[in-house]
Amino acid sequence: MQEKILIVNGFERKLIVDPDAFLSDVLREQLHLVGTKVGCGQGQCGACSVIIDGKVTRACITKIRRVADYACITTIEGLGNQANLHPLQTAWVVHGAAQCGFCTPGFIMSAKGLLDENPKPTREQVRDWFQKHKNVCRCTGYIPLVDAVMDAAK
Ligand code: FES
Ligand code: FES
Repeated sequence: MQEKILIVNGFERKLIVDPDAFLSDVLREQLHLVGTKVGCGQGQCGACSVIIDGKVTRACITKIRRVADYACITTIEGLGNQANLHPLQTAWVVHGAAQCGFCTPGFIMSAKGLLDENPKPTREQVRDWFQKHKNVCRCTGYIPLVDAVMDAAK
């Protein structure tokens, strides 16, 4: 076990972790941030995407020992809440971009990573980004997802 200090959604969190634990498990089980979903658990679906120091990262394949002390981690809980939705969250609702919703936190965190880097992407850039970050949705098809990002980027 080792001590790890992380900045999670703007708050310093001091944890005792198994260095071989995956970040998704630390977030969900130790910090109770269950918005981060684990679908495949193998880095193939993007459901577990979070942002670490500005970089979209798949938490299910990131061992906590590889996360630097004082790394800034943003999860879906850090974006908005029911009373004050982030523009991406609002756009997801408006465009019906979630059905079962399991992929939604990962897609939204991935989209945030894109808009932080490129605030005015083209539709093609949005599609390419999701492909590159392996975000997969089994329910909606990808048109509403891209529509939502384009709307949030307005
Ligand atoms: Fe992490 Fe699928 S749960 S990529
Ligand atoms: Fe069900 Fe995307 S809304 S997997």
